[in-house]
Amino acid sequence: MSNEREQWGSKLGFIFAAAGSAVGIGNIWKFPSMAGENGGGAFTIIYLICILIVGLSIVIAELVIGRKTQLSPVGAFEKIAPNSNWKWVGFLGVASAFVILSFYGVVGGWILKYIIDSLFGEFSNLSGNPAAAGEVFNAFITSSLGPVFYQIIFMSLCIFVIIQGVKGGIEKWSKIMMPVIIVLLGVLAIRGITLDGGMQGLSFLFKPRFEDLTASSIVLALGHSFFTVSLGMGTMITYGSYLNKKQNLLSSALWVIFLDTAIAMLAGVAIFTTVFALGANPAEGPGLIFIILPSIFPQLAGGILWSTLFFILLFMAALTSAISILEVVTAYFIDQKGWSRKKATLQFGSVITIVGVFCSLSLGGGINIAAPLGMSFFDAMDYLSSKYMLPIGGMLTAIFIIKKWGIKDYMIELRKGMNGATVQDGLVKVFLIVAASIVAFIIFNEIYFTTTGKALIG
Ligand code: PHE
Repeated sequence: MSNEREQWGSKLGFIFAAAGSAVGIGNIWKFPSMAGENGGGAFTIIYLICILIVGLSIVIAELVIGRKTQLSPVGAFEKIAPNSNWKWVGFLGVASAFVILSFYGVVGGWILKYIIDSLFGEFSNLSGNPAAAGEVFNAFITSSLGPVFYQIIFMSLCIFVIIQGVKGGIEKWSKIMMPVIIVLLGVLAIRGITLDGGMQGLSFLFKPRFEDLTASSIVLALGHSFFTVSLGMGTMITYGSYLNKKQNLLSSALWVIFLDTAIAMLAGVAIFTTVFALGANPAEGPGLIFIILPSIFPQLAGGILWSTLFFILLFMAALTSAISILEVVTAYFIDQKGWSRKKATLQFGSVITIVGVFCSLSLGGGINIAAPLGMSFFDAMDYLSSKYMLPIGGMLTAIFIIKKWGIKDYMIELRKGMNGATVQDGLVKVFLIVAASIVAFIIFNEIYFTTTGKALIG
């Protein structure tokens, strides 16, 4: 283990890096469609409650563990609880990183392809024709060579950033890309609001419709509060391990959550004002981004510019998240195996890229090793990580603090850098217990649903 651990260059740099990890594909395609379809403002309120109770408690917990130990997840759990089984929570995090990045890299590749298509005016053939846009998208993702080619480029960019290290790579690139994302989204949101009929999109997104809010919306909001702030796989432990004792972890965590939520909402505004102004269908998930948007952007004045800017900002959001996932794996091999950063990044970046190739090919390009499960390998990786691995990792992290580390020692580390601001041990403990219990319930509910076909709620 090295004594000269790399550190972030500034507080702002760290916040941009951590917010960059949080702000990803999840914010731009998941949050807007979830909110729109699950009661608009009513969903947003539930989501805010979830993120403030569950999200905030666990972001802080991960940052505290990382800064205390100055190690990535496996070493961090081992240092606080030597010779115990807790290090397996760290291994679960490293495994989650493999699983998530394999399909995330594929989607990153699709985004790159859409930047190029947009630039070359390819969307103009799809104008006002979502059915044609759907065919183009499906033909692309189910082919073999194209998506793999772009996925390899996306993963190479990830490797390129991570090889340059914490300050010279992650921080430097996040400081460039995060402000660009915010400005571009702001411009696109203003563009959308000023379109005739754009306001309808705002009411779809924000007007509370409690009649559309179901128990499953609540489960959805909770699950999303995990994925969207990159919790449960040690990303924040790893990023926290490059912090010094002067940093106020409570305010840092609040910043990350604020930026993540604000950007998700801004994305919703930019997308739905445009969708409604042009009378398109507010579809869900990838369809909204890769099918509906390419069919409506060409109808706007300066359509090529708007669609290219949109896919560039989506690419940056995906890249700043993907690098944080690769850093968890790289940091494991540096901290625990004593490897050089270059060797760890190159070897394991490549391994993840290869797993990703299988994800991509499982969508129709020829190889599907998850066929026996009745889903594509791509969907299996997504399902496994967001329904099980991240929630289990997050829940165990909260339990670790309550049961193993102890709230007193935890609070000593949290208070460093807080300049005497008061937070009560008891309150923090209650938050952690509530967070762990809610997540435990959600996991149980999912297992119950998969085995019996009925859910307790949702
Ligand atoms: N938070 C990212 C998003 O919203 C995804 C992510 C999950 C990144 C877990 C890192 C770790 O897209």
